[in-house]
Amino acid sequence: MANPTAQPPLAYDSHLERLEVELLLEAIYRHYGFDFRAYAFPSIRRRIWKRIHAEELTTVTALQERVLHDKDAMERLLLDLSINVTAMFRDPGFYRAFRNDVIPLLRTYPFIRVWHAGCSTGEEVFSMAILLEEEGLLGRARLYATDINEVVLQQARTGIFPLDRMQEYTENYIRAGGTRSFSEYYTARYDGALFSPALLANVVFSQHNLATDRSFAEFNVIICRNVLIYFDRSLQARVHALFYESLATFGVLGLGSKESLRLSPFEACYEPLGTSRLYRKIR
Ligand SMILES: C[S@@+](CC[C@H](N)C(=O)[O-])C[C@H]1O[C@@H](n2cnc3c(N)ncnc32)[C@H](O)[C@@H]1O
Repeated sequence: MANPTAQPPLAYDSHLERLEVELLLEAIYRHYGFDFRAYAFPSIRRRIWKRIHAEELTTVTALQERVLHDKDAMERLLLDLSINVTAMFRDPGFYRAFRNDVIPLLRTYPFIRVWHAGCSTGEEVFSMAILLEEEGLLGRARLYATDINEVVLQQARTGIFPLDRMQEYTENYIRAGGTRSFSEYYTARYDGALFSPALLANVVFSQHNLATDRSFAEFNVIICRNVLIYFDRSLQARVHALFYESLATFGVLGLGSKESLRLSPFEACYEPLGTSRLYRKIR
């Protein structure tokens, strides 16, 4: 029977544990390309131990051996590791490219519909609202933000994010080409940063499952970042079909830094816009 806790045995050497976790994460990155190396240690440690117990193993190194030699075990660990992790202006180069390459196209539209699929706790949506606001386009945009997980959507609707991440987000914002002072957008409340409710005026949060649900509108932009990497080929193909159906002609699809349209059945229907995982639907 698997140990139900997500903790190491009491006698486990904590220095050794740290070393083993770092080696495990490095091995996963080098072998599979999933980068969990900079994730907060306490949370990743908990998830790793949950998986060690579920696999009926006793050490982090044993888990490393298993995931390197057994793709199915890697899939299972991935499910434990990947849930809901997000950040404001994540991969700042993406937002910089969006400003440079997509905003000029959007300026030509009287009304702009954006879909954030797999938006998690909303950091990505707030980032986009800030960007559109700075470009003078938020007033004519509507952002639909969806996720399979209602709990994260509830969190997103509050507009409150951890205060201790504001420094990281400020740096991301600047690298993303932000034109103001990032602190203008929030007020500090206890250990939370409350973002301006005006940013949410044109945002609709709603539950939607990419694996089973249908399209619900026609969009000028679809952003789905760091979601498809956790799906297998056939589910990725389903989701690409859904996005293709849901995008207006010349609409833009934005993917995560480890995702692309390569080898998808829809590759020929898009052209890349620059090199930042932005694609324009051309047919
Ligand atoms: C790693 S987060 C990515 C968040 C954000 N897009 C980003 O890049 O920072 C992945 C999100 O996808 C959501 N997700 C997973 N499976 C999904 C599905 N079948 N339909 C919709 N969302 C899903 C998860 O709940 C999670 O919030």
